[in-house]
Amino acid sequence: MSKRVLLIIGGGIAAYKSLELIRRLKDAGVSVRVVMTDAAQRFVTPLAAGALVGERVFTDLFDQTQEFDVGHIRLARECDLIVVAPATADLMAKAAHGLANDLASAVLLATDKPVLMAPVMNPHMWANAATQRNFATLQAQGLRFIGPNEGEMAERGERGVGRMAEPEEIRDAALAALSDGPLKGKRALVTAGPTIEAIDPVRFISNRSSGKQGYAIAAALAELGAEVTLVSGPTNLPVPFGVKRIAIESAREMLEASEAALPLDVAVMVAAVADWRPTKEAPTKIKKGAAGVPAIALQENPDILATLSKLGKKRPKLVVGFAAETNDVEDNARAKIAKKGCDWIVANDVSGDVMGGAENQVLLITKDKTEAWPRMAKEAVARKLAAEIAKSLTAKARRK
Ligand code: CTP
Repeated sequence: MSKRVLLIIGGGIAAYKSLELIRRLKDAGVSVRVVMTDAAQRFVTPLAAGALVGERVFTDLFDQTQEFDVGHIRLARECDLIVVAPATADLMAKAAHGLANDLASAVLLATDKPVLMAPVMNPHMWANAATQRNFATLQAQGLRFIGPNEGEMAERGERGVGRMAEPEEIRDAALAALSDGPLKGKRALVTAGPTIEAIDPVRFISNRSSGKQGYAIAAALAELGAEVTLVSGPTNLPVPFGVKRIAIESAREMLEASEAALPLDVAVMVAAVADWRPTKEAPTKIKKGAAGVPAIALQENPDILATLSKLGKKRPKLVVGFAAETNDVEDNARAKIAKKGCDWIVANDVSGDVMGGAENQVLLITKDKTEAWPRMAKEAVARKLAAEIAKSLTAKARRK
């Protein structure tokens, strides 16, 4: 069956280029369905878009026949990819905030498919802090973007960043998003977030961890087609598209859920596992009082990374650990590869503001090389790591 794109046309002067985009997608063998916003219909007509796709164009959330026939939920699901072109500042804002008061925004809220946006707007609108916040929010949610490009604006004499990407560029990005991905058929495990170790029913010890980097890696692996299990301690993060999340609390539960995910092609252990747990969990709340300050005896938790690395025959083909270091980052990380038996370590210096922050700066350390990556968004670190993993796994498959 041919791949299906749902194209949402927003209201910008670049909407006329979306007609060209339809043609190019169809030439590439993709079937296209079109949703147009009210504003889009000021620039191009549903008749023109409908003639190109060879079927009606969807425009109205509250039109009884349209909703009855193919409602917004079906539009949101019966496709392999949603492309928003042009993605106006207004559509981006709606999507970032979960508004759903017209067909286009309702579809974006209801979908479980990947979304590619091609923004277009005046350079001042693009640079505005509100738009940039929405852009960051949508990126963190896993939406992909192509453009905006720099150049001449429709308004005479204006130049800057805000032009919509050209139809061929959008088509190429859409085809890349539609491709099955180099990790198709591969099974991946990601651990993320903290673990919490109970002292009594109301108290625990834990580690600082937002889970952001691990969740971004799970999302990036899924984007490349992997079947991803994310074993996660408590976080406030949404489950990335296409990822199976298993929520756990303690290190022992994390180990159990990780082993249950076997067999695996790759395991990426990003979790900040608590190294120790209280030897005994008090069955009732420990009261203040005569006994004074309680002494809490600790015992060591199982090391999940080391356990998976030393599994023998069942060992994942590639095991990647993380190292949070405050000093001698590379030496400590190399020592960790040797001690834990993993293949790679992604080492980050946590002496600054990395914990809980949006960016990360890491070293990728393998048995035979060390690469220093520039500081970048955690999502970008995740995509780069996922690409390295794909390279390694496909090279290993070829060697077989
Ligand atoms: N890790 C794990 N299970 C544990 C402890 C750590 O799977 N019980 C994993 C982490 O997910 C990470 C890597 O091991 O991928 C390194 O963890 P880190 O805390 O930096 O190192 P430690 O082994 O705890 O060593 P140290 O505290 O001496 O730095």
